Amino acid sequence: MAEIRVYPDPVLRQKSKRVKHIDGAIARLIDDMVETMHEVGGVGLAAPQVGTPLRVVVIELPGEEILVLVNPEIVKRSGERQVEEGCLSIPGYRGEIKRSEKVTAKGLDRRGREIRIKGEGLLAQVLEHEIDHLNGITYIEHLESIDNLSQVAPDTETPEI
Ligand code: CO
Repeated sequence: MAEIRVYPDPVLRQKSKRVKHIDGAIARLIDDMVETMHEVGGVGLAAPQVGTPLRVVVIELPGEEILVLVNPEIVKRSGERQVEEGCLSIPGYRGEIKRSEKVTAKGLDRRGREIRIKGEGLLAQVLEHEIDHLNGITYIEHLESIDNLSQVAPDTETPEI
């Protein structure tokens, strides 16, 4: 398991680099990220959150299969909804922000095959949140007002990503 980097760690502000080859080091990074996500009970994790500024994300919604995306990009978004969002890298806080209702993302799976994911609701939110991390962006930057940020007990049931 890796240590989760928390705000204001500079790696969280960095734009992550594209993965050129999915080699053994990337496979180990993916395994480590999945293990860490399980350990902390998150529904998604981006590589910079474990201190590696590479474009890799893992997502696992409750009851769903693990999704690995290398070099992911959002190719389409539609709709808008208000969500309460938390981030493993910003412990103890939640923010009210707007996210897309539907998102289509493309990228490579862990074997390097091209995949396209269509998500709505929570999956759309997590895809946007994790791909933001790869661009050095956290949900704090989507807050319309600081009043939309609140402190919460660490065991609050909002999924953390
Ligand atoms: Co996050």
